[in-house]
Amino acid sequence: MTEPFYITTPIYYVNAMPHLGHAYTTIAADVVCRFNFMRQNETLFLTGTDEHGDKIVRAAKKDNISPKAYVDTISKVFKDLWHQLNIKYDCFIRTTDPAHMAVVKQMLQKIYDAGDIYFSEYEGLYCFGCERFFTERELVDGKCPDHRIEPELIKESNYFFKMSRYQDWLIDHIEKHSDFIRPERYRNEVLAFLSEPLEDLCISRPKKRLKWGITLPFDKDYVTYVWFDALLNYISALGYPDGEPFKKFWPHVQHIIAKDILKPHGIYWPIMLKAAGIPMYNHLNVHGYWNVDQSKMSKSIGNVVEPLQLKNVYGLDAFRFFLMRDMVFGLDSNFSEEALVQRINADLANDLGNLFSRVVAMVHKYFKGIVPEIDPEVEDQFQLGLESDALSTISEYEQAMETFAFHKALVVIWELIAKMNKYVDVTSPWVLAKKKSSQKQLQVVISNLLNGLGVIAGLIYPIMPDTSAAMQKHLGMDPDMIKKGRFNNLDILKAWKTIKPGMQIPKGITLFPRIDLKNKVAAQKELAAGEPLSVLKTEIPMEAFGAIDLRVATVLSAESIPRAKKLLKLEVDLGEKRTLVAGIAASYKPEDLVGKQVIVVANLKPAKIMGIVSNGMVLAAVDDNGCSLVTIDRNVKPGTQVG
Ligand code: ME8
Ligand code: MG
Repeated sequence: MTEPFYITTPIYYVNAMPHLGHAYTTIAADVVCRFNFMRQNETLFLTGTDEHGDKIVRAAKKDNISPKAYVDTISKVFKDLWHQLNIKYDCFIRTTDPAHMAVVKQMLQKIYDAGDIYFSEYEGLYCFGCERFFTERELVDGKCPDHRIEPELIKESNYFFKMSRYQDWLIDHIEKHSDFIRPERYRNEVLAFLSEPLEDLCISRPKKRLKWGITLPFDKDYVTYVWFDALLNYISALGYPDGEPFKKFWPHVQHIIAKDILKPHGIYWPIMLKAAGIPMYNHLNVHGYWNVDQSKMSKSIGNVVEPLQLKNVYGLDAFRFFLMRDMVFGLDSNFSEEALVQRINADLANDLGNLFSRVVAMVHKYFKGIVPEIDPEVEDQFQLGLESDALSTISEYEQAMETFAFHKALVVIWELIAKMNKYVDVTSPWVLAKKKSSQKQLQVVISNLLNGLGVIAGLIYPIMPDTSAAMQKHLGMDPDMIKKGRFNNLDILKAWKTIKPGMQIPKGITLFPRIDLKNKVAAQKELAAGEPLSVLKTEIPMEAFGAIDLRVATVLSAESIPRAKKLLKLEVDLGEKRTLVAGIAASYKPEDLVGKQVIVVANLKPAKIMGIVSNGMVLAAVDDNGCSLVTIDRNVKPGTQVG
């Protein structure tokens, strides 16, 4: 039976580039969505970007461009990344979409009219990174636990949302619906939070402080708080209140988030819905953090791992597999490239890859690549329970996937792979092949193995869509059916016999090559000058680069600076005479520099170094052997622009 199924990811802030954490959540949503497709549900998958607020304004300022130009650029980076990671979202929402902004205004007015919004003065501790006020008890050592900085005390008049009024209702709702927030640890966390009085939520920011937001419909001097804006994306994307998608898909929703944003989703969001008289969402699914060296991977800490880099080195499906296999949904997981390589080698190259090539090789060796017929009379005798094993695998897999236990779903599939590898050893096709009298048994064994691979190819579809398609194609499953995605259907897999006798199968392919970590790291070292996962600085738009004025300068004189062993004072001609201080004394003698043409950042704010005002910066590459000045390979007029 088909049911409407709606899955959402958080809408990500565009103040920095996406990293592994964002990729995990979005791939998890894609996996769940594809699984529901396999169940023939009608699916809708929403993701997007969160584009208003302080931190966006500050990020844009840093890049010297307008907030609008900035959010357009970064939002596109997220969108492009999802395509590269084979994420099949249906809808990409941006909080700067006019339709979304209209819904936010409508909701604010509705809640205001109902009397749940009031105006009042407030003084509190505000974390600009989180864009919210903190209570003392939420701080760790006086600092925001996420950004590790002390919040600032600010005082202003604002609009407040009467959340306190709904506290008892929310406790009751969570208690009555045991899987409203899951896994249980996060349900308990929200209930623990609600065991103390709930403060009302400040939902406005004065325009004198922040303009980049949605104006309150009842006070033009204020914009709304980013969270009040952002959370509404989940319904504005459906065309709330009258859109067909809203009618069909709400509230059949599975929200996915990480624990960092549990409070807005577990407390503000249900109360907002309740106050507006909208049916409650069905489920909130909360996962843990990807950590690097026990610290949360985050752009504010600067320890991020880039998904595309991993995809390019290890392959997309291997990367998706690793993320789903190595994190227990709900718990934190430590990212390491060694663990990734180990997973690929053990589970993909060895277990799955070997089984696949072993079976394909046998079809060629014993049957010239043609899928053998089965004689029903000997079939049962040589099944050895493989079909029923596969059926119970499918049902355990379904249970695991329903509860977002992706790692478990994969464990179950890999148990079937192990059983099949064992089945090969027990039935010993190479022995059967030697005798004419055991030809029929051999046919049964090989057919069983092929059908087993057909089931596995189907089950891995949500996690590794490309590998699933490659296996299906190779196994000669009906190309038309593959194209229509018919094998990505649990009912068809439950019928067991997916591989047709008489089909010609091509010679083996390697699904996943083994990876030699030592070689890989060495190769990367060569590429990245000693840093295996050297992370590029945040991508910038062309305009930001254009803001840097690079000029060719001829060195007129150079001298060392007393008490500063590393520094040299340079007089240069870059169309005008300039004095610069450069940290190149360890690599260059003053006399070697005179007459050289170098590249200078000419519009850098002057800086006083060792009492000397430096009016620009000389470019150089720095490695273990010291520094090497950037020069040009033909002399040009001093002051010539570089770009
Ligand atoms: O919070 N491990 O956006 P955001 C796992 N705009 N997941 C991680 C992660 C990590 N180390 N780091 C980030 C916002 N994530 C708001 C959301 S929704 C109405 C508004 C993932 O860019 C995870 O899904 O900070 C987390 O909840 C989300 O990115 C936070 O993204
Ligand atoms: Mg965040």
